[in-house]
Amino acid sequence: MRFGPARRLVLHKRINCRRFSPTWSTSSMAPSRPASGSEELGEEPEESLCGASSNLTSLVEPPLPHLAPAVPLLESERRVERAWEHWRRIGSPKLIVAPMVDNSELPFRMLCRKYGAEAAYTPMLHSRIFTENEKYRSIEFTTCKDDRPLFVQFCANDPEVLLEAAKLVEPLCDYVDINLGCPQRIAKRGNYGAFLMDNLPLIRSLVEKLASNLHVPISCKVRIFPNLEDTLAYATMLEEAGCSLLAVHGRTRDEKDGKKFRADWDAIKAVKGAVRIPVLANGNIRHADDVWRCLEHTVADGVLSAESLLENPALFAGYRTVEWRDDADGLEDGGLDQADLVEEYLRLCEQNPVPWRMVRSHLHKMLGDWFRKQPQVREELNSQTKLTFQWLHEMVNKLRVLDGRVPLYAKADLMRG
Ligand SMILES: Cc1cc2nc3c(=O)[nH]c(=O)nc-3n(C[C@H](O)[C@H](O)[C@H](O)COP(=O)(O)O)c2cc1C
Repeated sequence: MRFGPARRLVLHKRINCRRFSPTWSTSSMAPSRPASGSEELGEEPEESLCGASSNLTSLVEPPLPHLAPAVPLLESERRVERAWEHWRRIGSPKLIVAPMVDNSELPFRMLCRKYGAEAAYTPMLHSRIFTENEKYRSIEFTTCKDDRPLFVQFCANDPEVLLEAAKLVEPLCDYVDINLGCPQRIAKRGNYGAFLMDNLPLIRSLVEKLASNLHVPISCKVRIFPNLEDTLAYATMLEEAGCSLLAVHGRTRDEKDGKKFRADWDAIKAVKGAVRIPVLANGNIRHADDVWRCLEHTVADGVLSAESLLENPALFAGYRTVEWRDDADGLEDGGLDQADLVEEYLRLCEQNPVPWRMVRSHLHKMLGDWFRKQPQVREELNSQTKLTFQWLHEMVNKLRVLDGRVPLYAKADLMRG
């Protein structure tokens, strides 16, 4: 098996990311509703953007020249061929940042890309709110020219609304993704995500609507059914409906706790054997060795990682947190620590403002090991009602003074390149 370039440590990849949120033409849409949409998504109140909003640049990227024209549903052979052509055109990425509400936003995606991620998903966007509310669009979806390949994920239960939302982002992404895996209560109330597994005809109509009207391919992120046959029938139906790429999270809708339930790689392997389009595996990726094990076991075309990347955005470049140090031989201090990553993340946020709630969330994840040892610093962070970058940089310095380094580890042979 050949492995991608991220098996080597990527230490100094440059990030050149000028943020933009698209200029949206809303003339054909219903008037914006006053609600920001955040209440409907159950978000925290800390909505204000980090950084000055005057930095926000509105640009529209021209549609990509390579985009195929939208066509009515093609016959299946040709559709599968096109799915692979597209996958190869974007570089057949193996190492992919999973969609994460409030966590796979632009600065975090760019940090992960610097450290080996070869593609990334946006957080889930609510398709109806996206079509109705300009503020929601400009805050929740930002991207830039180096933020590719990019999957833009929506939740939806209405094909027309989903198409309207997808049309707004198609020039800016490589896949429009449908979230068919969210198992949370909010998804049950809103009738989207994994709760659509009870209504497969509706799922089919969502996929068909996009596949026959968009220029970019459609991907779906799914969970498995408790029964393998149901999972395989589901995957095959999605492929027939026009899905060009399938990301399979190897847990059922009821297996919400990723720490308690292992993802079922056998089920992912079976899906890979049953469909002809590219398949991505999701679940149980704690460090780079898991990536290669998962690819070998499932024969999938790539992997998604979520929780582990939040603690260690340099995972794909071969770095491990101390938690996974004992597992492998030959691990050395990789010359990088989580505080370095936080500093880089903060700089990316200064260039590409996002709501402070997202920044807070990342700080808690990336600095978790330090905060466990220095809980008073975490308390200080929690008690700040208004954050500034200066305060945060000083907090990181304080942790360094109190605690020295908490290094990330890497294999010596990778370090030598
Ligand atoms: C903070 C967080 C937010 C998430 N948000 C989304 C989301 O917006 N869309 C989605 O499809 N999955 C979402 N997920 C699920 C992940 O994409 C992924 O499927 C799941 O965490 C399993 O992968 P892991 O074992 O690598 O964590 C989220 C997970 C986390 C931890």
